[in-house]
Amino acid sequence: MLLSILTVLLLSVCSQAFYLPGVAPTSYHPGDEVSLFVNHVTPTMRYQDDETKHYMYSYGYYNRRFHFCVPEGGKKKQSESLGSIVFGDRIFNSPFDLKMLENTTCNVMCKSTVPKRDASFFSKTIRAGFQYNWLIDGLPVARQMLDSKTQTSFYSSGFNLGYVDDLNVAHPYNHFSLYVEYHLRSDGNYRVVGVTVMPESRVQADDSAADCSSEDSLPVSFSEDGDSTITYTYSTFWVPSDTVWATRWDKYLHVYDPKIQWFSLINFAIIVVVLSTILVNILLRTLKSDISKYNEVNLDDDSLDEMGWKLISGDVFRPPSNPMILSVILGSGTQILLMALITCGFALLGLLSPSNRGSLSTAMFILYAVLGLPGSYVSGYVYKFFQGEDWRTNMILTPVLVPGVIFTVFVFLNFFLVFAKSSGAVPFGTMVAIIAIWFVVSVPLSCLGSLLAIKAKPIQLPCKVNQIPRQIFPQPWYMRTPFLSLVAGIFPFGAIAIEMYFIYNSLWYSRIYYMFGFLFFCFVLMLITTLLVTLLIVYLNLCNENYKWQWQSLFLGGGISYYIFAHAIILSKFKLGGFISVMMYVGYSLLLAVGVGLMCGTVGFLGSMAFVVTIYRQIKVE
Ligand SMILES: *[C@@H]1O[C@H](CO)[C@@H](O)[C@H](O)[C@H]1NC(C)=O
Repeated sequence: MLLSILTVLLLSVCSQAFYLPGVAPTSYHPGDEVSLFVNHVTPTMRYQDDETKHYMYSYGYYNRRFHFCVPEGGKKKQSESLGSIVFGDRIFNSPFDLKMLENTTCNVMCKSTVPKRDASFFSKTIRAGFQYNWLIDGLPVARQMLDSKTQTSFYSSGFNLGYVDDLNVAHPYNHFSLYVEYHLRSDGNYRVVGVTVMPESRVQADDSAADCSSEDSLPVSFSEDGDSTITYTYSTFWVPSDTVWATRWDKYLHVYDPKIQWFSLINFAIIVVVLSTILVNILLRTLKSDISKYNEVNLDDDSLDEMGWKLISGDVFRPPSNPMILSVILGSGTQILLMALITCGFALLGLLSPSNRGSLSTAMFILYAVLGLPGSYVSGYVYKFFQGEDWRTNMILTPVLVPGVIFTVFVFLNFFLVFAKSSGAVPFGTMVAIIAIWFVVSVPLSCLGSLLAIKAKPIQLPCKVNQIPRQIFPQPWYMRTPFLSLVAGIFPFGAIAIEMYFIYNSLWYSRIYYMFGFLFFCFVLMLITTLLVTLLIVYLNLCNENYKWQWQSLFLGGGISYYIFAHAIILSKFKLGGFISVMMYVGYSLLLAVGVGLMCGTVGFLGSMAFVVTIYRQIKVE
């Protein structure tokens, strides 16, 4: 108990360092223009309301059907990083005119006319809980919220397009009160440290000047027949704040109920540590006595029956079926695993901050391309361990097979987005850029990795492989790989389950993800659990004289993917809005499950390989 409290304290101190301010601050002087940029309109998760359907794709802000106000001189796209484009950001300028320290009230942006058919689209997006995503000085425009459990206020990025009243009528917001918090530094510079909005829906009379103050204004409704007119207005208030620039993200990065999370995780960690200590102890002790017994008993050939795993020393290094495919999969698994670990490490060090949009996804993409080198190395090395001869095919298949499948699924899903006129569809130019990076960076590095693996010294097999394969007894159902991998998957999934909720939130609803300390911790825990469970089951199987551990260890480690996929499907509560949302959701959940499965399967295999080589080195075989 004391230990867990201490750990909580320690970790919460560390968590202060989990995100860093990142990019260089912008200083303003009174009267300087502060731009407001508009990003895509995204769906949100609405947990309280079970009636609404969830949509899985976003729309561009200037999608024609919304009829939002366009800036004078037309919309202009802001430049973005590759990762930010792939993950859906579409940032444009806006007609807002904000000047540092100049309060304004009731500026009229434009009068927009929404025809009947677009009104039904607009009202559908309001009902589904779609959100505005605006940015001022890199900060998302947020709603101020109160966490009912901890009674702390925090900023929730983005705000709804409108609201649905008690009579189930949708009203779009058309008046925005922006509260921009600034910090006056001792050197006389002003910095933006927070932006909140109070959106309202109010009818404006056609003839007189816009009025944004009257209390009893009616909300805007879409006209049943014919066009609806919406007048968009805004007010700006500049509010002094004590928050310094370096900590301006703190209020945005609010964790719901942090205590419960940490506690459950730490409890889980303690269970893992205790279990693994016991496990490693037993394993070591059994192995030690096994080995010493074997080395003694070997002199008189009496009790060879009890030997279990030692009996199969002549078969345990027999190459598995399809050694090529297995080694290629392991290479790709290594690539994804290293990418995840290094990205998480970078994020931990604060190199990828939330204010640098898309830095995380860009880093992931670049890392994935570069890590083709170690990936191919592992692929080639394992292939050699399987006594494979056809290294040319291995060299070509490794950078092509798994990434090719991932890319094909990605392109396939992209077609649905294009069809839905979603802004999330990745533009053709970006696709070409991705393919170009692939062929210019990743493929050559992969080939280099393969060549290094060919040059590398192969593992000395401790036992020779017999000419004739030994017969494996028919295994009972509970010792077969499908069942075992289901069992093995539960444990690592336990480590990552809490985290998945946050990952989905940032994946689907463009929430900022920042708890990298937490993620890293869960991730490492997941890998350790995978390794231990796989080793245990592989050992039991070897004792059972089943020497086919190679594919089995991959599937044992990869067992987590069933749970990740099932969990994702259950989380959606089967309330997805339309066929395209279903396709997107299932497609990306599948990709995620397979990706995590590949990582864990690789850990399972490489761990088992080291384990098997080590234990068979200890016994004398003549
Ligand atoms: C602008 O409005 C805010 C909020 O009402 C107020 O605190 C601030 O003093 C105003 N600033 C100026 C320059 O009037």
